[in-house]
Amino acid sequence: MTSTHKAYCPPGNLTEYLPDPREPIDRWFQARNASNVRTTVRIVRDLCPTADLFVDPLAGGGSSACAARLLGLPFFGVELDPLLACVCLAKSAAEFDHVRAVPPRVSPDQPLASCLSVTRRLSEGTEHPVSEHEMLADLVAGPCATTGSHVLWGDATQAEIWDELHVQARHAVLYTSPPFDLSSPRPQALPGLRAEAELALAAAKAARSGIGPGAFASYDQIASAVVLRAAYRLQRLTVILEHEPADDGSDSRAPTIRRLTDKLGSRLRDVRILECGAYSRRGLFSLIVCEVAQ
Ligand SMILES: C[S@@+](CC[C@H](N)C(=O)[O-])C[C@H]1O[C@@H](n2cnc3c(N)ncnc32)[C@H](O)[C@@H]1O
Repeated sequence: MTSTHKAYCPPGNLTEYLPDPREPIDRWFQARNASNVRTTVRIVRDLCPTADLFVDPLAGGGSSACAARLLGLPFFGVELDPLLACVCLAKSAAEFDHVRAVPPRVSPDQPLASCLSVTRRLSEGTEHPVSEHEMLADLVAGPCATTGSHVLWGDATQAEIWDELHVQARHAVLYTSPPFDLSSPRPQALPGLRAEAELALAAAKAARSGIGPGAFASYDQIASAVVLRAAYRLQRLTVILEHEPADDGSDSRAPTIRRLTDKLGSRLRDVRILECGAYSRRGLFSLIVCEVAQ
């Protein structure tokens, strides 16, 4: 049975819903559909205070990677788009010395610095191009990268990618924002930068199979597929899925919960819908929350 709670607070207003362009590390590049890092941190602290691993299988440009860093949790992230996967990897793993080593072009000897190079050049096409000084300042002031984190470029609905989740977790949190409509906006990049991102990811040994367009189209298919993959690998999981209606107004909350109930049976517990507020033209933003027991 599902319970619905109206007016769960975070995000409680538009500022808490949109990505913050001043957020350290996250400001290096924010995807158009990115989440607000501090709001994600608050939600995870509220709903899964005992988490010892942060999983985001639809990781985009890494707002969850930044949230995991702030929470001091190892992060396991997967992203289909190579530019965003590069950004996510950089946000998750970069340290001061990597920024000092950023090459002008991708270099196989410096995989992480190469991901930072792609991130910087991607940000040059935006309103907020990031400088080397800002990157260094963010890393000096912010938390260190968390040991055991892993970001992969691939399709998170495929089983193989989950073979690389090696962290022993007692209680993982899966927080993600599945695409609300048929496709996610792709970042605009300089010619050739996408190919450089692919090279940087290959050098970082982060490129995996299943890097086509992704096997599933709808919110409920993608969301349930990645939750099931995680549930097969992890003993105890708190699942938090951001949800907004699709462009045509359709609501995927009930179909997603139905798919999870069918497959997980009695492992699925305490299913809740937390309704937060309407911050985009799509309508109500809510969180689908559930526990997956052993
Ligand atoms: C709403 S965005 C996530 C935004 C993210 N929170 C951020 O900060 O950028 C959803 C992401 O899921 C990715 N995606 C869609 N299908 C996928 C799949 N099968 N495997 C991995 N990533 C996928 C899309 O490329 C997109 O970047």
